[in-house]
Amino acid sequence: MKAFNDLADFNTDEIHALLELANRLDERPEPQALRGKVLSLLFLSPSLRTLASFQAAMTRLGGGSFVISPEMSIHGIETRPGIVMDGAAAEHINEAVPVIASYSDAIGIRAFAERKDLEFDLADSEFKALTGLIHTPWINMESAMNHPCQNLADWKTLDDLSVAANGGKFVLSWAYHPRALPLAVPASTLYMAARRGMDVTVLRPEGFELPEPVMHRARAAAEACGGSIQETDDRTEGMQGAHVIYAKSWSSTRHYGDRLNDQKLREEHIDWCVDEPWFDNAQDDCRFMHCLPVRRGVVVSETVLDGPRSVVIHEARNRMLVQMAVLHQMLGSEQ
Ligand code: CP
Repeated sequence: MKAFNDLADFNTDEIHALLELANRLDERPEPQALRGKVLSLLFLSPSLRTLASFQAAMTRLGGGSFVISPEMSIHGIETRPGIVMDGAAAEHINEAVPVIASYSDAIGIRAFAERKDLEFDLADSEFKALTGLIHTPWINMESAMNHPCQNLADWKTLDDLSVAANGGKFVLSWAYHPRALPLAVPASTLYMAARRGMDVTVLRPEGFELPEPVMHRARAAAEACGGSIQETDDRTEGMQGAHVIYAKSWSSTRHYGDRLNDQKLREEHIDWCVDEPWFDNAQDDCRFMHCLPVRRGVVVSETVLDGPRSVVIHEARNRMLVQMAVLHQMLGSEQ
């Protein structure tokens, strides 16, 4: 495996093989599998789970890792192309990325969307420019439009909980958040659930429709995998018969890059905080999923988050296990 960027790059058998490997490594650890191998982790955006779970994954497989982020005592990094560097930044990303990659056998990169230009972000343009700088195997640790490690961990969580692939109802719900957040998790989670063959409902207020290319890709995946995609702004209708609700906030497509108008619109929907009454007409054992971090009492009530429906810690642990599988396939002797 030369890159782990998007579930769409893998057929269903390959995804199942990664999930089986994650289960095997959990049950039968291989503490020597990546002995002598080094993973570099470049965080141009903040993290808790991704940072810790990749380091833990590499250590559990016998390898090592190092982290670089702008918050460390490094030279200021310029990311803009074609710039005369007469300001504070002393180092350009065009040298920094290949140098970091040259110290390791694989590199993980995180760079969130700038959220200024929807077309630019939909094309994952910044991330493509970064990965175009390296020849080392690489892993997308979250770009403008993808979060494949989260998607694989969530797929595993659904399998672990025996949530039906075909016939299971998966609700991807927008939730209120005081800030406009990126599209990577909702867009790639929608695709993951569609690829798993689920009946997916996108539940969101008007103005927070996901961009048409995102919906189009999910509809095509659902059609190919025996699932379906619905969309509604009606919470009662959306939650009817749901097996899973996956909550996430995202930016308004209508006001993308327009902070003030996005904020005005989202503040009309401050009541979109997932709470127990949301589950009135869902399946009795309907689960609550979220990639974390999550704002308590804003995105979801404490009752739901601390209650039996919530599987957020299970999802977070699965991040480490599926990343062990990805690293094993990318750097192990059977690659
Ligand atoms: N879910 C996730 O990627 O968490 P972090 O942003 O903490 O890495």
